[in-house]
Amino acid sequence: MLKRHTNIALIYFFLIAFLGVMLRIFPIVDMPVNYRFIVHTHSHIALLGWVYTGLTTLIYFAFLKSAAVRKRYRIIFWFTQITIIGMLVTFPFTGYALFSIIFSSLFLLASYWFVYFFFKHCPATLKKKPSYKLVKISLWYMVISSLGPWALGAIMNTAGSGSPWYRNAIYFFLHFQYNGWFIVALCGIFLFVFEQKSYTLSRKVFTPFYYLLNGGVVLTFFLSLLWMHPNWSFYLLALLGGVMQLISFGMLFRAVYARAMSIFKEMSSLVKTSVWMAILFLFVKLCAQILGSFPVISDTVFTNLDMIISYIHWVFLGLVSVLLMAFLYQFQLMKLSLSRLYFYIAGFFLTELLIFSRGMAAIAGIEMTSYLHLLIGIASLWLLIAIALILAGQLSLKD
Ligand code: HEM
Repeated sequence: MLKRHTNIALIYFFLIAFLGVMLRIFPIVDMPVNYRFIVHTHSHIALLGWVYTGLTTLIYFAFLKSAAVRKRYRIIFWFTQITIIGMLVTFPFTGYALFSIIFSSLFLLASYWFVYFFFKHCPATLKKKPSYKLVKISLWYMVISSLGPWALGAIMNTAGSGSPWYRNAIYFFLHFQYNGWFIVALCGIFLFVFEQKSYTLSRKVFTPFYYLLNGGVVLTFFLSLLWMHPNWSFYLLALLGGVMQLISFGMLFRAVYARAMSIFKEMSSLVKTSVWMAILFLFVKLCAQILGSFPVISDTVFTNLDMIISYIHWVFLGLVSVLLMAFLYQFQLMKLSLSRLYFYIAGFFLTELLIFSRGMAAIAGIEMTSYLHLLIGIASLWLLIAIALILAGQLSLKD
């Protein structure tokens, strides 16, 4: 069952990469589609299809597989898939409209059902573990993030889609989705991998780590409001949040390095490579968060789409997608070779480098070669081929 769920998650990954390439080559190839509708399809299926399906499959494997709730979980899983496929076949043609809003609202209800199911059926023995405590708070971040989309309806009818409230509601959703739900849940699965090998983070380390990490998740939301050039206190709170997160992850990796490196060394080279890559991606993200709290940087960065898109894809394609694949591989739900992972990471670095350079050139007022669009399109195609090879490897009958 979980291998099939992993296949479905990877099919979504391939589909969003395909849509992403369509968006990237839009400036150079004429296509009979609506750009914004494809952006909405891409981001919904990316967050709610690939990452949500991948993460809930990992959480079921780690915490619910022993609870004999397979049949009931299957109902939740397929109901959720119907809502995701509903979004996939409506957003490209209508954008935000009746049916796409119905399916995305039904998805939110399906996600609340999963959260209730997890809390009800997770064995009591596992509820004492640090990994459970992180997954628990990450699921609450997922629920909290949904306040954004629910508020959109009311905002559209009152302040309107041009109002700062509309943009902030989308940023609220995105922030608590990836800085809360995605990253904290992946931290929980990271600790679960070590707990499976009988290393549990001590209470002395876990308690300050937990409060610094989550305090940082909440306070770094202020970063998403800096585009409005608010009062200086917003910058200070965002900076404090960024520093709290940097310290919290520093504490986590120091503890694991001191106590569990022998366990880590026993893991497969694919998982070790992915974790070291993820630590690099995370470190850059944490530094970007702190730098982004300074007005001179946030004023420049938040008005440049390439800087925003390269940052969110650094997190989504780098940190989140590489760790998701590594944990699916660690739990033997996914087949992946080191060479395919390297091919993916090379494509990732190339797209990030080109989009970041285009953003920096615009900030510096430097005229970039007109071939840059084409180069970005080719690099994104490389990423699409890498994801296609990963999916083909997963679906192939060969072990
Ligand atoms: C091969 C992989 C990918 C490519 C080529 C790609 C490309 C793009 C492009 C071109 C945009 C539109 C930027 C704009 O004009 O607003 C975009 C937006 C976005 N992408 Fe991706 N993307 C990829 C993978 C992902 C993944 C894996 C995720 C998340 C897990 C993701 C999440 C998003 C989000 C949230 C947006 C912003 C949507 C908005 O502005 O409403 N993308 N992507």
